Amino acid sequence: MSLRLGDEAPNFTVDTTSGEIDFHNWKADSWAVLFSHPADFTPVCTTELGRTAALRDGFEARNTKVIAVSVDSLEDHHGWAPDIAAATGNELNFPIIADPDRTVSELYDMIHPGEGDTSTVRSVFVIDPSNKIRLTLTYPKSTGRNFDEILRVIDSMQLTDAHSVSTPVDWVAGGRVIAAPTLSTEDVTATFQNVEELTPYLRFVDDPS
Ligand code: BEZ
Repeated sequence: MSLRLGDEAPNFTVDTTSGEIDFHNWKADSWAVLFSHPADFTPVCTTELGRTAALRDGFEARNTKVIAVSVDSLEDHHGWAPDIAAATGNELNFPIIADPDRTVSELYDMIHPGEGDTSTVRSVFVIDPSNKIRLTLTYPKSTGRNFDEILRVIDSMQLTDAHSVSTPVDWVAGGRVIAAPTLSTEDVTATFQNVEELTPYLRFVDDPS
């Protein structure tokens, strides 16, 4: 059965480029991004892992740990790492899971046989500090993901967890947000700055954080 938003992220113990990891112990009370790539020594994947390494400060600022997975061996992951550094200018700074027996790939339904072979598609799971799955993305093998978008959604989830707001289309951190429709006009006016009521249920306010 596929995993859904709000489900607990299944735990696993695996070999990674940073040694053996028990996933729940490793992430502890951080947020986590678990993402799969189809194969080592491939071009799009090389750009994605380099970009992820470049965003380390952004992930750390959001209390978020990152971990990659593919069905390749640990030996392949270690052999590929210098290529990623040379091609993108970014040394790997997060673990890559070696999943040749497909433990993680099958647990998280990352292998989609209709997509050609038994390698993983480009799946993303964002998991919160209580181990709940909060975001899933699935991209085809030929399309690299936008990791700025992953940071943007984490920003939104962390903001909307803390305040009675949601974030509108194309929102980016610092932009105006939407007061919860369950709040009365009086509560919105008392709680937020610069209220703009477009309809009774669409009230833009300044970011309260
Ligand atoms: C790539 O990373 O370039 C790639 C990997 C598998 C299938 C298609 C593209």
